[in-house]
Amino acid sequence: MTLLQETASTPSDVRDLPGPGGLPIVGNLHQIRFSRLHLDLEKWADRYGPLFRVRFGPSDVVVVSDRATIQRLLVQRPQAFRRTRRLESVAKEMRLRGVFAAEGDDWRRQRRIVAAALNRARIEDFFPHLVMTAERLRRRWQQAADRGDTVDLCSDLMRFTVDVTIGLAFGIDANTLETPGPVIQRHLDKVFPVLHRRVNAPFPYWRYLRMPSDRILDRALDSIEEEVNTMVRTAREHMATKPEPTNFVEAILAALEDEGSGFTDAEIFANAGTLLLAGEDTTANSTGWAVHYFMQYPEHFERARQEVDRIIAPAQAIETLEQTKQLPFIDAFNNEAMRLKPVAPLHVLEPVSDVELMGYHVPRGTTIMMLVRREATREEHFVDADRFDPERWLAKDKPSPHDPRAFLPFGAGPRLCPGRNIALTQIRTVLAMLVRNFDIRPVGTGVEERLAFTMFPANLRVRLVPRPPA
Ligand code: HEM
Repeated sequence: MTLLQETASTPSDVRDLPGPGGLPIVGNLHQIRFSRLHLDLEKWADRYGPLFRVRFGPSDVVVVSDRATIQRLLVQRPQAFRRTRRLESVAKEMRLRGVFAAEGDDWRRQRRIVAAALNRARIEDFFPHLVMTAERLRRRWQQAADRGDTVDLCSDLMRFTVDVTIGLAFGIDANTLETPGPVIQRHLDKVFPVLHRRVNAPFPYWRYLRMPSDRILDRALDSIEEEVNTMVRTAREHMATKPEPTNFVEAILAALEDEGSGFTDAEIFANAGTLLLAGEDTTANSTGWAVHYFMQYPEHFERARQEVDRIIAPAQAIETLEQTKQLPFIDAFNNEAMRLKPVAPLHVLEPVSDVELMGYHVPRGTTIMMLVRREATREEHFVDADRFDPERWLAKDKPSPHDPRAFLPFGAGPRLCPGRNIALTQIRTVLAMLVRNFDIRPVGTGVEERLAFTMFPANLRVRLVPRPPA
């Protein structure tokens, strides 16, 4: 048994943990809305404390919101903890058992190659593609502003992140920003909601009964597979003439040649698909949340604009990678948006063997949910924690007035997000382009947190108005 906290006495049984009362058979399922799962669990954590139990049907789920324990669990992967077996099997059924869903030696092998391929495709290499894509987004928004159209912000941002990620992954200019009609992004949109539903379902009904939504997913996966396979074929042909890799898939193909590492075609598809999914929603929704806060705090918007003007004027958008590194206020602002609205507000894993957790015996395979957002919004870690205050990230005080170990928007430990630098570069580039060129007006009210594997701002619609001349 792994000990996560020394205790003098015999560990208690998980069934003795506090938690909301439930019903026979369904447990607490009737009290949970899966599109708001993180909010329901955060509310219960306020009542039941840093370790409590809920029941998803017959299964116990242990919910942790203690910073030090969360850190330790994340760091002890993959030996002592793993992503859930349900996630792995659901991802496998969807042909997506890539680095995000793999475990043990499979994960180690894939992680090494994927992380190296993301490095190899270095941000400098793909930066011109990012600049070009940001310019297309600017033109799209300019046209919407000229027509006075309402902009569905996250949908536009997803076209942006898909274009950037396809460029990064395959060296292909997908240009979904300027292409009408069906685009790969519409197929990708189908995957996360179903993944979220299936991972949390008490019973794998879809293995016995195909609902219309399951058939829609099958068709979406077929289309993604077809598109990805075509892109992989193109990469192979390119490698035959120019062996030096120029993008993620080519870097994977090159690594396979070097190491004879036994990556199968299915794993190449799974990792290319994983990259598209992991890079799309997360980055688009994080940017969306930052824009939401720009509308809440005009004074911060103005300060961001002044910073960007200083760095890039008279240009309309960022032109060099160097400029993205000179935006401390935008970074502080975005950190604060990610602290309060992380797109991954809760992480899920399970112990590989029985463990003791804060004095409780947690059997192997028990689902453990970690409320990482809750920790980043607690007074003990961040002074005046509910206040949106970018300044806290700029303060030079020593010791720091807050505990950065409670801020985990990209995870922690060996499975820390390998795309974080790429993501942050995209976010800086888009936010700088936005504040430099447009004023933002909210359309309607009621922006809400919704969870569909990632947490996104539902109802985030805006009107963009060209910036008045100085
Ligand atoms: C703001 C944007 C993003 C956020 C907030 C984010 C967040 C995360 C988080 C929380 C994890 C889980 C980490 C853990 O288990 O400790 C993760 C994993 C991962 N992310 Fe990201 N991510 C973002 C963008 C990206 C991008 C742009 C890419 C690729 C281009 C990417 C690729 C991955 C991959 C491959 C994994 C799986 C790593 C593994 O299991 O070893 N992510 N990300």
